[in-house]
Amino acid sequence: MAEELFVDPSAEKSAKYHTLLPQVEALVKGETDLIANLSNIAAALHQTFGFFWVGFYLVKEGQLVLGPFQGPVACTRIDFGKGVCGTAWERRAVIVVPDVDKFPGHIACSSLSKSEIVLPVFNGNEVAMILDVDSLRPADFDRADEEGLGKIVGVIEQIL
Ligand code: SME
Repeated sequence: MAEELFVDPSAEKSAKYHTLLPQVEALVKGETDLIANLSNIAAALHQTFGFFWVGFYLVKEGQLVLGPFQGPVACTRIDFGKGVCGTAWERRAVIVVPDVDKFPGHIACSSLSKSEIVLPVFNGNEVAMILDVDSLRPADFDRADEEGLGKIVGVIEQIL
């Protein structure tokens, strides 16, 4: 497909996710390289929603290691159970953090980040990676993001 996205910038957030999903599916279709696909997914999310930081931490040898992302430079390794990302890995669950300063152990890669959503991506029964999205605005993530990003995660799980 053409490497171009078509999402109405004035649409509501949930409508943007709805329009983006088939385009993400098309982007990864026919490409078998995981890093190439994760890179484009991070770019598609960044481009569509203007997130401050969006990217992946990949489970490698018992740690989360920084993978493809869009945004400022970030910490490269996170331990199991540490920070929001390591906690989502441990809990095997989505975590929405309206105020990062109130999340015990939050790892501040940037002091500018105010809220965050983290979703585990499963390969079978194992967490294979974490999708992490940060915002400059407090309480910026809601059910629409959880659902929309959850569907993007579903696309990734199908190509693992
Ligand atoms: N805040 C995350 C660390 C990753 S950065 O936000 C990119 C955490 O607490 O796990």
